Amino acid sequence: MRIDKFISRALAISRKDARDIIKSKRVKIGSRVALKNDWEVNCEDVFLDDKKIEFKEFYYLMLNKPKGYISATYDEKQKCVLDLIKGYEKANLFMVGRLDIDTVGLLILTNDGPLAHKLTSPKKECFKKYYVEVDGEFSLDDIEKLKLGLDLYDGKGKAYHTKEAILEIISKDKAYISISEGKYHEIKKMCQKLNKEVTYLKRISMGNLVLDESLKEGEYRELTDLEVSMLKENC
Ligand code: URA
Repeated sequence: MRIDKFISRALAISRKDARDIIKSKRVKIGSRVALKNDWEVNCEDVFLDDKKIEFKEFYYLMLNKPKGYISATYDEKQKCVLDLIKGYEKANLFMVGRLDIDTVGLLILTNDGPLAHKLTSPKKECFKKYYVEVDGEFSLDDIEKLKLGLDLYDGKGKAYHTKEAILEIISKDKAYISISEGKYHEIKKMCQKLNKEVTYLKRISMGNLVLDESLKEGEYRELTDLEVSMLKENC
């Protein structure tokens, strides 16, 4: 592969930015400084500032989504979660599932289509856990009701019965709710059905992957290899 193509793909940056890096003589092929953009490279052998460049096919990012951003890659009018992500312009990232504009917390961004499908497919039963605050009071009866499922309408107005959800009550108006599907406004509608309005909603985990609480809202980081394998194994 040409060195400029390799750098652009490995670092998920534009070809122009890759060429600028090469021009600044920070790139070596083996021990030799790369002088031309069309030099051919073996992917094992490329260094930037003397650090080996690992070629990545897939990227996995964890974002602590803030309020006010829609779960979309591009929108003319509204701010999108992808607007928060810098330096991955060439990685073709997309969101794994969606969070409402006013929901905060864990959102995974990746270019790994099969994994994204696994994580969002209701058949795979990957549980997503939410911290929920409501205007109203949770009762012990709600635990059973959510376990058995509720009759709701999806985003297209089609009736459906929710899959088993797990309610863990923290206090009268705070709880964790875990669901394995991702229907439109599902938690909000579940709570409405139980006569409560959601006032705050935060996703805190997907499968075994837990939101890194050191990330402030709007911040993101790449998943570690361990976290990626946890995601792959548990969903
Ligand atoms: N359920 C909701 O109602 N909203 C979300 O953003 C996620 C789950």
